[in-house]
Amino acid sequence: MVHLGANACIVGRNVEKTESMAKDIATARPGAKVIGIGAIDVRKPELLQQAADRCVKELGSLDFVIAGAAGNFLATIDQISPNAMKSVIDIDVLGSYNTVKATLPYLVESAARHRTDGKTLPPNGTGGRIIFVSATLHYSGTVLQSHVSVAKAGVDAMSVSIAIEQGPKGITSNVIAPGPIADTEGMERLAQKETREKAYKAVPSGRYGTVKEIADATVYLFSDAGNFVNGETLVVDGAQWHTSGAGNGFAYPDFLLSGETVTGVAGGKKAKL
Ligand code: COA
Repeated sequence: MVHLGANACIVGRNVEKTESMAKDIATARPGAKVIGIGAIDVRKPELLQQAADRCVKELGSLDFVIAGAAGNFLATIDQISPNAMKSVIDIDVLGSYNTVKATLPYLVESAARHRTDGKTLPPNGTGGRIIFVSATLHYSGTVLQSHVSVAKAGVDAMSVSIAIEQGPKGITSNVIAPGPIADTEGMERLAQKETREKAYKAVPSGRYGTVKEIADATVYLFSDAGNFVNGETLVVDGAQWHTSGAGNGFAYPDFLLSGETVTGVAGGKKAKL
């Protein structure tokens, strides 16, 4: 987004990491303004409000919001303490809610300035758009991820509610559900190194995704190309989550690529006499 002309404001709990990431993002375009506001915990609505107000004061308006804060670790539901469950729900569900709450009045103003009839290019670009970053874990069920599955299902539901309630004011609200993305904190946390080196085989695209591929989905939803997309979930995972049913003993994708036919099961194709 910054590369394509946006200025931006990012928030995070860690001051140093947030400020240095803002500097890094600013290198995407000469002259870009990217403000990194640290010491912001998405669980604190008043801190998010201060950040949103500062963003508008320094950048002039707030046209797009990405609610992407997520808590995660691997554990079974009996290993997760009440406080751990609460932490993840608070970060993901309430953090997303707090983000919307702090920014919605600005987004409604932006949406009014960027209305489009779908026929003519909006003269001043698009605005009034929200993206929630969710996951695919809860579609088929994922072990060691009950807390996040519950939380992300809540985020998905929130996005749809906002689309239908705020849509009449020109707001669009959509979800990006990323699959495994290489070289990210999420991958480091959710898969052991040896598994990471092999599990890409379960991705029909034959590899993990890249950060750029999630950025590209963001550009689509925020751009004029995404004007009529609202209340939708865009899964960007190389079709990975659909392969959860591929565990029937025939190695995926090796068996498919080998060209062999199925043997060793009842009901195999009979040879014609
Ligand atoms: N297994 C089980 N419980 C864990 C845990 C783990 N690996 N990591 C943290 N917890 C528990 C803590 O023990 C604590 O519960 P308790 O008070 O009953 O002991 C609770 O979670 C809160 O932890 P705390 O460290 O006090 O607070 P926090 O607000 O920093 O939340 C995380 C902890 C792990 C949820 C959060 O720091 C986090 O997810 N950070 C990573 C963000 C990230 O990488 N996101 C991308 C993921 S795809």
